[in-house]
Amino acid sequence: MKRDLITMFDLKRDEIFEIFDLTAKLKESQKKGIEQHLLKNKTLAMVFEKPSLRTRVTFETGMTQLGGHAIYLAPPDIQLGKRETIPDAAKNLSRWVDIIMARVFAHKTVAELAENSTIPVINGLSDLEHPCQIMADLFTVLEKKRTLSGVTIAYIGDGNNVCNSLIAASTITGFRLNVATPAGYEPDKNYVSQATNMSLVNDPGAAVHDADVIYTDVWASMGQEQEAENRKKIFSSFQINADLLRSAQKEYLVMHCLPAHRGEEITDEVIDGKHSIVFDQAENRLHIQKGIMVWLSNVN
Ligand code: CP
Ligand code: NVA
Repeated sequence: MKRDLITMFDLKRDEIFEIFDLTAKLKESQKKGIEQHLLKNKTLAMVFEKPSLRTRVTFETGMTQLGGHAIYLAPPDIQLGKRETIPDAAKNLSRWVDIIMARVFAHKTVAELAENSTIPVINGLSDLEHPCQIMADLFTVLEKKRTLSGVTIAYIGDGNNVCNSLIAASTITGFRLNVATPAGYEPDKNYVSQATNMSLVNDPGAAVHDADVIYTDVWASMGQEQEAENRKKIFSSFQINADLLRSAQKEYLVMHCLPAHRGEEITDEVIDGKHSIVFDQAENRLHIQKGIMVWLSNVN
């Protein structure tokens, strides 16, 4: 049966670590200049309902490095569910290409694409989850800390798609997660209710205390632009700045999925500081997505 990556819950713990092992090998080969044309002559369709820098460039570059090809379908091109139904689009794409990656507004759009495709479908961000991001992030933590068990990650800010995927990943793999959001901006209830290693508070200081990794994301996600000004006021005490970081572990790491709104959720001083690993995260989007595409193409 074909497999998809629509939510982190599509992967079991062992499978996540299998993808990490594969990714480490692909990354090493790429650094040494050894070609790994594991998806030679394969085509990836990249469907975007929203803008992107990292997701678009890393999927397209990744496919090139694997010997395949990627087609960029911009927001006006397919118009999922408007120009034709999502099942019809899925059935067409399944006859031509080998993998679909979709960045969508409503999570059910990417879920419906997967249900109606005979090829693997990857969620490149929805309103509910961003699994490729969290796979890249955990791979990055593993590179830096050599382990995930025993690591405490503090997520500070909006209980959004990135936060939901982080909660799912913590539930599956077992790292400790402290989430702090303003009241009313908590993560999805279904994710919180399944969580096994998580605390949820409204006090950023409490979440950061003794954390090994401090993670944040924008206060207003794509599609919430009209709320941005109001959110700036509500979230102002959730900024990652030098003061907030004082109670973290000594060797703490700072993470952000990017794009960053400097001066809002994170200060220049912190994002450009020596604890920041944001560009390692961004680089690893490339490597992990190569791992994910190869893994999904070979798993039964
Ligand atoms: N982090 C991330 O997904 O970046 P883009 O929105 O630029 O793809
Ligand atoms: N939460 C952000 C992540 C961007 C990569 C958004 O959905 O816009």
